Amino acid sequence: MLRTKDILDEKDKRLRMVSEEVVFPLTKQDRAQIKKMVAYLRDSQIEDRAEKYDLRPGMGMAAIQLGIPKRYITIVNEVDYEEETGKHTFETFIVVNPKIISTSEEMIYVEAGEGCLSVNREVEGIVPRYARCTIEGYDMDGNKIRIRAREEVSIAFQHEIDHLNGILFVDKIDKKNPFKNQEKYRAI
Ligand code: NI
Repeated sequence: MLRTKDILDEKDKRLRMVSEEVVFPLTKQDRAQIKKMVAYLRDSQIEDRAEKYDLRPGMGMAAIQLGIPKRYITIVNEVDYEEETGKHTFETFIVVNPKIISTSEEMIYVEAGEGCLSVNREVEGIVPRYARCTIEGYDMDGNKIRIRAREEVSIAFQHEIDHLNGILFVDKIDKKNPFKNQEKYRAI
């Protein structure tokens, strides 16, 4: 199983690489990595598992964060939590060679500040993101897929696809004025 220490830190130059398109079929190793990425993200959002294995919580991961310069990403979004039973329900997205094919005009940002499993510090400031976007890519078997994402899932896709191009969210914050143009965007 993946642990927090397996995830590259922002100082690691590999995070600046532009990842390569994946050629199908996926290798066994890539399939195994994808399963581990999804398992990490799920576990990291389940409090007792996160605590037990000392996992930093996250909802998205790109292969390059494990040092693999290939274009695949995973996103695990909690859609329901039942307090009485402690049951979490997640939606999981696995996209190989993802591309954003259209975006909304409306822009949003994470009010509490965007986070990243590779950035182990609090970063203040606004990262403008499209409120909605449509992503095309492939599933693990090479079937073409199209996803319409909104709100935090839309942000997650933009964030993870940035990783495939060597971009971190901190790059997108205005250094001199981290809250520049705040009024132009909707906080979520
Ligand atoms: Ni990240």
